[in-house]
Amino acid sequence: MNNLINKLYNEHNLSDDELIQIIETNELDNELHISADKIRREIYGDKVFIRGLIEFSNYCKNNCYYCGIRRDNKKAVRYRLSKEQILNCCKEGYSLGFRTFVLQSGEDPYYNDDLMIDIVSSIRHNHPDCAITLSLGEKTKESYKAFFDVGANRYLLRHETASPEHYRKLHPESMSLENRKQCLFNLKEIGYQVGSGFMVGSPFQTTENLIEDLRFLQKLKPDMIGIGPYITHEETPFSNQKSGSVELTLRLLSILRLMFPYVLLPATTALGTLHKQGRELGLKAGANVLMPNLSPVNVRKFYDIYDNKICTGEEAAQCKGCLEKRVSAAGYRIVVDRGDVEK
Ligand code: 5AD
Ligand code: FES
Repeated sequence: MNNLINKLYNEHNLSDDELIQIIETNELDNELHISADKIRREIYGDKVFIRGLIEFSNYCKNNCYYCGIRRDNKKAVRYRLSKEQILNCCKEGYSLGFRTFVLQSGEDPYYNDDLMIDIVSSIRHNHPDCAITLSLGEKTKESYKAFFDVGANRYLLRHETASPEHYRKLHPESMSLENRKQCLFNLKEIGYQVGSGFMVGSPFQTTENLIEDLRFLQKLKPDMIGIGPYITHEETPFSNQKSGSVELTLRLLSILRLMFPYVLLPATTALGTLHKQGRELGLKAGANVLMPNLSPVNVRKFYDIYDNKICTGEEAAQCKGCLEKRVSAAGYRIVVDRGDVEK
């Protein structure tokens, strides 16, 4: 085995110089994916955990330069799901075998703490055996605590980039990396299982930035890490920027699996959007989670954070059946399970 991969496999860490070497070549990819898959199978076997994603609002008060549902995209068709609609998604998801629901939205003040508490309590009441994951962006520690106290278990908040200079190139002045990082530590302190992550190939990203992302994750020690390629959206200030690559995303998935053997690592929809077999390749590179869409089919196409997002058409109503075939063809198995982190 290549020395660097051997070291990563045994010690779950490399020096910055070694990481640069491994990130900047495609020559090690095959071996890297094989080693990542090996360590994944030692811990999780061939299990793939599924999370039912409910994108309940695409209103957002923020203006990230890369995101299609940013406030200033006046062409975005906005929608909000009612509490009843959200509960129905969960009910349908439960009967399909989902035991984790992920409630994701833009930063939408319409869903104030009282409303979120009401929604989370109802899901907790209806589905005591399920994990409830929230992904609502940056909130106060008090709000996070209030949601936790009524039954939320997990929270997803990608840090997007750990480098202050790079962060500034992707976000307007009104947003703060410091605050975002603080939110992540607050969530951990409250007791959430926390997921963070970053986009691969976002505009102006350097190898050094990626290493900063890995170092930040080593400090945070998240239970979940979400990464996917950056994909251009036409109605953003970054409409002229190139999308990230599938190859680099897969390489980073394998590096993450080897650095964080126990982590829950999704093969993301963005990866599936850039390549027909993207999610399958993600699983083979070390990912062990899929997050299919449970939102009502008629709103799916409006949660368009990047162009050409998959599974938004009428034909995608049965995401689970489609995924089951794909996952078994790739050599893995979807399980009906909350899919908590193995520690
Ligand atoms: N391409 C890929 N991923 C994106 N996200 C936002 N905009 C894009 C884009 N254009 C990611 C961010 C966010 C997650 C929900 O989607 O990382 O945290
Ligand atoms: Fe909504 Fe970035 S545009 S959080």
